[in-house]
Amino acid sequence: MKEQLEAIKKEALEAIDQSQSVKGLQELNVAYLGRKGSLTTVLRGMGQLSKEDRPVVGQLANEVRGAIEEALDEKQEILDHVELEKQLENETIDVTLPGRPVKVGGPHILTSIIEEIEDIFIGLGYEIKEGPEVETDYYNFEALNLPKGHPARDMQDTFYITNELLMRTHTSPVQARTMRALEGNRPVRMICPGKVYRRDNDDATHSHQFTQIEGLYVDKNVRMSDLKGTLNTFAKKIFGEDREIRLRPSFFPFTEPSVEMDILCKVCSGKGCSVCKKSGWIEILGAGMVHPKVLAMAGYDPEVYTGFAFGMGPDRIAMLKYGVDDIRHFYKNDVRFLKQFHNA
Ligand code: PHE
Repeated sequence: MKEQLEAIKKEALEAIDQSQSVKGLQELNVAYLGRKGSLTTVLRGMGQLSKEDRPVVGQLANEVRGAIEEALDEKQEILDHVELEKQLENETIDVTLPGRPVKVGGPHILTSIIEEIEDIFIGLGYEIKEGPEVETDYYNFEALNLPKGHPARDMQDTFYITNELLMRTHTSPVQARTMRALEGNRPVRMICPGKVYRRDNDDATHSHQFTQIEGLYVDKNVRMSDLKGTLNTFAKKIFGEDREIRLRPSFFPFTEPSVEMDILCKVCSGKGCSVCKKSGWIEILGAGMVHPKVLAMAGYDPEVYTGFAFGMGPDRIAMLKYGVDDIRHFYKNDVRFLKQFHNA
């Protein structure tokens, strides 16, 4: 029996030594020390031993058991360690791998162009103002010298909400609101960017919703030459120093005299092409000296104060500046179109 125990010990220790997995170790544990394991089986035969032999064999059996348990524990520790190493290796992050690109958004091209225009006018001492998009008939028309029934109202096909409420057709109501707020006794220098609405059928150059920027400068001794100088500075800053401008006489009910500003066509340099419809010039904004009636209605004494106003379309300016051939691109929000301008 002693030999048997020694043989079990030897065999078990070898098997444990050779075992390569935690699962294999568990199996060995069962095979040697389990209820039906070989050591247990041998010990069951103890009853047949003589009284003298029993304690000796018993002690030996305990030693064998202890040795096997110790070997199992040691090996378990080693295998645990190996497994941890393996896991750490598998989960290692390779910091030299290139990262997955993150899609970065950017401002909409119209937002960028409006901010660019704002920066130019802030540099000239203008404040930025805002006004409501749902406007009253009074501020959109009447306060701008367009009384009810005035034929020029037809120039601006209007979305009416009620008889007195409408979607503003231009940003000009903000000039009346701003003057009214200053109570007729302080100079005004403001621009107002925002959305405007007209009952147009959408096509390459029309959209039922588009953007405008209104500008207003009211003070003592403001003259037409101030308007021209301001618009010239603006045009050169936005389109480039070499861009010439010209002012043509025009009509707006809220300005007198009124003008429209053209810039020299970049495509043909004034010779005439399809972009400028053979004229050599491209219209970009309307402007004029604020009508005395508009000043008076807003509480400014037209004998003391004069002013100029202008209104432009950032959509149109962006189209000219970047060669966009259809205004609807700005509102479809196709990322492939929009992302071209993210570094513009
Ligand atoms: N509000 C005018 C328009 O929408 C533009 C304009 C503004 C003209 C200010 C003159 C002065 O057509």
